[in-house]
Amino acid sequence: PLHQRAILLNGEMQIWKGETRPVHSPVALRAADGSLTHVELGSFPVTGTAEADAAIAAAVKAYDNGRGQWPTMSVADRIACVENFTNQIVARRREIVNLIMWEIGKSLADSEKEFDRTIDYIKATIAELKNLDNANSRFQIVDGTIAQIRRSPLGIVLCMGPYNYPMNETFTTLIPALIMGNVVLFKPPRFGVLLYYPMLEAFRSAFPAGAINIVYGQGSVVVPHIMSSGKVNVLALIGTSKVADQLKKAHPKTNRLRAVLGLEAKNAAIILPDADIDLTVKECIAGSLSFNGQRCTAIKMILVHQAIADQFLRRFSEEIGKLKIGMPWEKGVTITPLPEMAKVAYMNECIEDAVAKGAKVLNENGGASVETLFYPAVVFPVKDGMKLYREEQFGPVIPVAPFEDIETALDYVISSDHGQQVSIFGTDPDQIAHLVDPLVNQVCRVNLNAQCQRSPDVFPFAGRKDSAEGTLSVHDALRSFSIRTMVAAKQTEASKK
Ligand code: G3H
Repeated sequence: PLHQRAILLNGEMQIWKGETRPVHSPVALRAADGSLTHVELGSFPVTGTAEADAAIAAAVKAYDNGRGQWPTMSVADRIACVENFTNQIVARRREIVNLIMWEIGKSLADSEKEFDRTIDYIKATIAELKNLDNANSRFQIVDGTIAQIRRSPLGIVLCMGPYNYPMNETFTTLIPALIMGNVVLFKPPRFGVLLYYPMLEAFRSAFPAGAINIVYGQGSVVVPHIMSSGKVNVLALIGTSKVADQLKKAHPKTNRLRAVLGLEAKNAAIILPDADIDLTVKECIAGSLSFNGQRCTAIKMILVHQAIADQFLRRFSEEIGKLKIGMPWEKGVTITPLPEMAKVAYMNECIEDAVAKGAKVLNENGGASVETLFYPAVVFPVKDGMKLYREEQFGPVIPVAPFEDIETALDYVISSDHGQQVSIFGTDPDQIAHLVDPLVNQVCRVNLNAQCQRSPDVFPFAGRKDSAEGTLSVHDALRSFSIRTMVAAKQTEASKK
């Protein structure tokens, strides 16, 4: 077990002697007597508001109203610090990957992908910043004014990532925020906290004191406390709109707060009558069940034209029956344990609610569970009034609703509180074209004959309505965590020469 006691504050490792909380894996192992036990992976410090205050003070000191070492450092030197950090964590890849797998139950293959994708993201961010900096360092002369346009930091950024991508999504805010010269307060997610332990020394040694400060403890106490200090300039949260709203409200001056938010979604797949069934089934399975459906980008509602519904549902259920369910380290596994029993209970609640209101679970074993292992369930027909119709299930339960008129499918998306992505499956270009323009005005990405997803990471990752605020991506995040500024002078006769 990894009993984490070190806290990184103001560039120093402090040893915590107070309360700690155990971390149990979602993975339950069978003991010799036949009982199932969730492995204790270790524990972490339950720091409180006093440590949060110390973290805020360290961040304020490091930023020093824009005069600090980090915000005034050259772009090249900041890049060198991030490269140093990256090299150090790459050296600990195996340890970090194993912690991702054990802490959140993500398959080993996907945990490796999460790590490698994060490193690629950092490298691409550095390349993008070099381009941005080259472009910015050129002077522009307009109407007698010489200007150097810059991208300047915003101040103190509070970063919080989600449990489903505890490393990758955290780093898609933390790295661009840092590299642009902001200082960071970072609260690791509840599931996915120990994996930061092998990175602590890299954070300490690669960056100036106070540029990054890590806070632990009870999120519902510590994080609003940090926000209420009024010192946070940017809230970078990948989480829920409920938490985002609470945290924004805790800030005494919301007009001084920028938010970069990745929130919930209810992405729909719209299957038209002429869709290629093989491709649609394949994409809908990957879209709805990768990492057990625990992705903000997952397909969380399937709207299928009634002319093709039987055929689709039969093939979809059959193919789901072939998926491997098991432990995250098993080769070829798709369905792995959910993070906690409460999640299993919520999946059951969604199914029971739909069944009580007239729907059925179509696939064999759908909804069966052993501890945190939950067998995916295809629920049909899902209607307005059922939980699954609008709630983001964030798990392996797939609601399917039939439609007759294409406008009904469009209306579903238009009347949703969410607006991240949609997938359209079909082959008739006229029908697809009819849907694309209105849909792209409702969501931020329309996928044609492909599942909803975030990558390639260079493309904008955003959402409308309750799904997001600001834009992430290798390209956009550097802009989201900075402000366009300029240094200007009047052109003189001497400078004209
Ligand atoms: O949970 C939301 C993630 O940003 C999803 O990313 O589509 O690459 O799995 P992904």
